[in-house]
Amino acid sequence: MFTQERAILEFERKFGHSASFVVRAPGRVNLIGEHTDYNDGFVLPIAIDRAVWIALGPPTTTQQVILHSMELKRSAEFSLENIKYENQGWVEYIKGVAWALQQAGYLLKGWEGLIVSDIPVGAGLSSSAALELAAARAFAAVSGYPWEAIKMAQIGQQAEREWVGVNCGIMDQMVSAMGHAGHGLLIDCRSLKTESVPLPPDITVVVLDTATRRGLVDSAYNERRQQCKMAARFFGVPALRDVSQTEFDAKAEALDPVVFRRSRHVIGENIRTLQAANVMSQKDAMKLGQLINASHVSLRDDFEVSSPELDQMVDCAQQESACYGARLTGAGFGGCAIALVDSSAVQNFTETVTINYRTATGLPPEIYVCTATDGATMTSI
Ligand code: GLA
Repeated sequence: MFTQERAILEFERKFGHSASFVVRAPGRVNLIGEHTDYNDGFVLPIAIDRAVWIALGPPTTTQQVILHSMELKRSAEFSLENIKYENQGWVEYIKGVAWALQQAGYLLKGWEGLIVSDIPVGAGLSSSAALELAAARAFAAVSGYPWEAIKMAQIGQQAEREWVGVNCGIMDQMVSAMGHAGHGLLIDCRSLKTESVPLPPDITVVVLDTATRRGLVDSAYNERRQQCKMAARFFGVPALRDVSQTEFDAKAEALDPVVFRRSRHVIGENIRTLQAANVMSQKDAMKLGQLINASHVSLRDDFEVSSPELDQMVDCAQQESACYGARLTGAGFGGCAIALVDSSAVQNFTETVTINYRTATGLPPEIYVCTATDGATMTSI
């Protein structure tokens, strides 16, 4: 069933009256620009047609937020007068958003909400950023403040970093807040300026889930951030974004070999991302695919965030003639790869890749054929 309708119906069933609003915030995949956001660099993600939906009731007279998640079959509630961290999983993302909004001076009202989602959790498609942005839209709807997408992305990131305790960059929240249907969103992660870049015609973005989830992703991610910081210190700049290829070539030899490779990835990836936006504007799917392939090699060999299964999946995809390019997407170590595929051959591509990946690894992949959608939306009912 269409998820917006499902949220509205389930709300009525659960709370015994009609919802007043329904909000939606999408998950994302990143076309290119990986591990560049926390280096003040460039990213080029799309918001996908998988989302978190919340149907919400009229503002409650009290300061309670009363929630029910359909997927998890769990209910929870908290008071806006005294928000406490209780390690309650998904609810903490919503509490974190409420806390960050209050810190920023917003006066919030309570609500009842029914949450449904079709973003797989843990696959690297940013189900948590989507939940944060859906919560921010829900608070905006009931509390009556205007929707400011960039500010709300920052609120979501603050919730995730300071409340939930995951040290993420700004990419996921930005694209969930302000993606554009049919377009990638080029984000300058320093200025937060964005530009919508049309996807080349006749190509389809296919998400290839390896069916692997790695532990210790957070610690490996934090270690990469640390290494990038060390590199920036070595070059005497605020972030690796500020190092050009020429400066890198002139000085990098004196770097520790691991930090050398980490910085080579980030500097090259920023250049590739800007080139990707350029070739997309020229509708050049072939060149875009080559940049995507080069990104994977760099993530695998220099940034070292791939895994045998991700490499295998990328390999299976790249072997298909309908595939322009493929690479791991998101933080890495497990989760998903993406492929850019000729739209006329998507079905054959997904069938062949499924068989070949399963034969090579013994694992059943999940494949999602995606379209690029708009960022977070709100509808009054
Ligand atoms: C995770 C983080 C993002 C970004 C990517 C890597 O998805 O949440 O902010 O750093 O990893 O590009």
